[in-house]
Amino acid sequence: MPKLNLAFFASHGGSNMQAIIDACKEGRLDAIPRVVISNNSNAFALERAKKEGIPYYHISSVTHPNPEEFTKAILDILEKHQVDTIVLAGYMKLLPAEVIKKYHNRILNIHPALLPKFGGKGMYGINVHKAVLEAGEKITGVTVHLVNEEYDKGRILAQVEVPVLENDTPETLAERVLQYEHKLYPETLQKIASGEIVL
Ligand code: GRF
Repeated sequence: MPKLNLAFFASHGGSNMQAIIDACKEGRLDAIPRVVISNNSNAFALERAKKEGIPYYHISSVTHPNPEEFTKAILDILEKHQVDTIVLAGYMKLLPAEVIKKYHNRILNIHPALLPKFGGKGMYGINVHKAVLEAGEKITGVTVHLVNEEYDKGRILAQVEVPVLENDTPETLAERVLQYEHKLYPETLQKIASGEIVL
């Protein structure tokens, strides 16, 4: 099986990206981190890329105010670095439709809840965990799914349940869920790399 050639899109910390890079380095994941793209020039994810020696780019509506040029810049980078699989890791922007079309069934996202519950508009970051607690859920979780034009609605590839504890705040719940994310994302990618999951 050839290795996956990964592009990461991240807007903030990039801890999921780091977990995947670590899995590659430790031989748990047959993939090569090829490039990191962020819409946020201050994203810690870009620092991580620099430290790991992975090419990285800041591409945003500031660097590319024209949407067509924005899209072209992204497509050019993906092509230049021979990317075959896109990993969204806390990317807060919608990918251009052309990118989604070109990488059909090759774009993954991770969501910090059990989709289809707690997905869709406004359901990102701490909002998700607030909604889970407000709904009185006893179990939440993590979902890895494919990205299509309708964001949180692509095919679900993997899920894991995470207990909600009595005294959880949105923050403590987010922290627990994140630990499970760091495990599930590389494991799911490895299932794709090994052919156990066919995209
Ligand atoms: C994670 O909670 C992920 O589920 C969501 O965005 C967050 C990214 O965190 N899509 P990090 O940047 O990987 O630390």
